[in-house]
Amino acid sequence: MPQSVLERAQRELLDWNGSGASVMEQSHRGKRFIEMAAQAEADLRTLLAIPADYAVLFLQGGATQQFAQIPMNLAGEGGSADYVDSGHWSAKAISEAAPYVRVNVAASGRADDYRRLPSRDSWQLDPQAAYVHYTPNETIHGVEFREIPDVGAVPLVADMSSNILSGPLDVSRFGLIYAGAQKNIGPSGLLVMIIRRDLLQRATRPMARIFRLAEHAAHDSMLNTPNTWGWYLAGLTFQWLLAQGGLAAMGQRNHAKAALLYEAIDGSGGYYRNPVDPSARSRMNVPFTLHDGALDAMFVRESETAGLLALKGHKALGGMRASLYNAVPLEAVLALTEFMQDFSRRHG
Ligand SMILES: Cc1ncc(COP(=O)(O)O)c(C=O)c1O
Repeated sequence: MPQSVLERAQRELLDWNGSGASVMEQSHRGKRFIEMAAQAEADLRTLLAIPADYAVLFLQGGATQQFAQIPMNLAGEGGSADYVDSGHWSAKAISEAAPYVRVNVAASGRADDYRRLPSRDSWQLDPQAAYVHYTPNETIHGVEFREIPDVGAVPLVADMSSNILSGPLDVSRFGLIYAGAQKNIGPSGLLVMIIRRDLLQRATRPMARIFRLAEHAAHDSMLNTPNTWGWYLAGLTFQWLLAQGGLAAMGQRNHAKAALLYEAIDGSGGYYRNPVDPSARSRMNVPFTLHDGALDAMFVRESETAGLLALKGHKALGGMRASLYNAVPLEAVLALTEFMQDFSRRHG
């Protein structure tokens, strides 16, 4: 998270907004909290230029819960949906959707070990599908779609957990966008959803109200007690993003950060390698390996000592992974590339 956001939260921790108590101690039905919550939504709408016919929801349960809740709400019983399998998280979305919808895997990068993205022309889409689901950025495999795929009139559903707010986005191209907060929005335990309002009426099967997205929209995401602390921190992050110049500025910054790191990897003469086809490389998550895996543990240890944290790769892939989320400044990427060069000189 941006340091200035954390510092502000620290300053306000014991006395938020002149209330004499923490934001976590406010009633979510109180005027102060409701105003703050509405402002957070308004700021997100400004950042993403969200059209009026889209609802914004602040939910719980993470992206994993949405893997099931989206098919429950968007597909009727016996309905089908198209899924694009581009890595670890889309594969999870597919397996969790299967109890609720007939899944058609329209395209898959599995045979390529998810090192490239299946091109749009290869997708076998079903015009009767309830929706098309894809994962614009695969956090573990480090592949990212550059363009929003054209899927015609079928609603496009996107798990943007790891690249939302990383640059400008045309929300009107989507039926539903969802993102766990813990990368570019705020702390874990909060999920932001942007959903075209007509899709809220799709749920026909019996389900508890807590699973029904239309209920959450009708109650301004306060059907039950929301994650007040997460919502507050998300609101501070949205304010920070606006002060940075909005998503156009973030997009440029993220492009520069990623270019710097990929240049360091590609220019290392094979000492470091990124397995992803250059056309699909993620701006947010950069997995890389060392030329000798026996050096991995030393790389992690020495990088931590140098103040470079969380570089150990996901257990599914091994190696290293640098995540370049919005809150990571260019200077941190510069420090990483300098460390990488120094490490390769010392352990050639
Ligand atoms: C793209 C993507 N989808 C889904 C998830 C799962 O999110 P959660 O743990 O919030 O359910 C993650 C992990 O954070 C992710 O990166």
